[in-house]
Amino acid sequence: MSNQFDKPAHAADDWTIDQGWADYTVDEHKVWDTLYARLMQVLPNRAASEFMHGLTALKLDRGGIPNFETMSDELEALTGWRVVAVPGLVPDDVFFDHLANRRFPAGNFIRKPDQLDYIQEPDVFHDVFGHVPMLTDPIFADYMQAYGEGGLRSLRHASLKNLAALYWYTVEFGLIRTPEGLRIYGAGIVSSPAESVFSLEDDSPNRIGFDLERLMRTDYRIDDFQQTYFVIDSYEQLFRATVDTDFAPLYAEMHGKFDHKPEDVLDDDTVLHRGTQVYADRGGRFAA
Ligand code: PHE
Ligand code: CO
Repeated sequence: MSNQFDKPAHAADDWTIDQGWADYTVDEHKVWDTLYARLMQVLPNRAASEFMHGLTALKLDRGGIPNFETMSDELEALTGWRVVAVPGLVPDDVFFDHLANRRFPAGNFIRKPDQLDYIQEPDVFHDVFGHVPMLTDPIFADYMQAYGEGGLRSLRHASLKNLAALYWYTVEFGLIRTPEGLRIYGAGIVSSPAESVFSLEDDSPNRIGFDLERLMRTDYRIDDFQQTYFVIDSYEQLFRATVDTDFAPLYAEMHGKFDHKPEDVLDDDTVLHRGTQVYADRGGRFAA
């Protein structure tokens, strides 16, 4: 999600472009394989089973940057979603419209070998490895479509900020409680080896039970590990809480503002872990 900027000349009206799969170099495919191998060291027993199943169902484990057409044929057969290539971030209305129509927009470029650990802009590895496996889960797939529809509606209320926090704390940085323990389903976490361990095992961040309004009122970090992770009990809980709630009165109350800081713990919170915030207090990834 992002603000308005100019559409590149080679993009269609809906901002889609050709993935240009045949043009990826050997080294670019190698970047994918290196990141994939690193994540396989940490994700088993940390990522949600739906995510791990999605990886294999879509054959994302066969090596190299996936071809969106082939992958979309597999995905469409499962949940009706397709992946379309875009040049990078797209305007909010375009992004929401794609989601509302069960199309996931993914950047087609891949990070350089010296950016393996951190990049600002989501690349094909984050977008595809991080987001697409969860779209094989039928309930999560419905949630993402509903989110797109809700996004189009939020634009009419000029209340994108609070809805964006919902995306951030679920789709990008969500955790889920399972009988086997906490698991990761957020794309921003599963595409980062370091945050995959940090989000589940570090004492620093808070881990707090999902509460729709609480989360929509909470500011977040975009340039470092999160200070708070919100934990759902099921995708059904997430879907029902968001779809059954009319956001219009919430937007009116929230005024596009955040009442809570990223690190806050409130009296009403269901606290699974109260973070020490040692990591953030030491300066996070910019620590000396
Ligand atoms: N129920 C929300 C609304 O009234 C739409 C929505 C659904 C938003 C699911 C996010 C996720 O706008
Ligand atoms: Co993302």
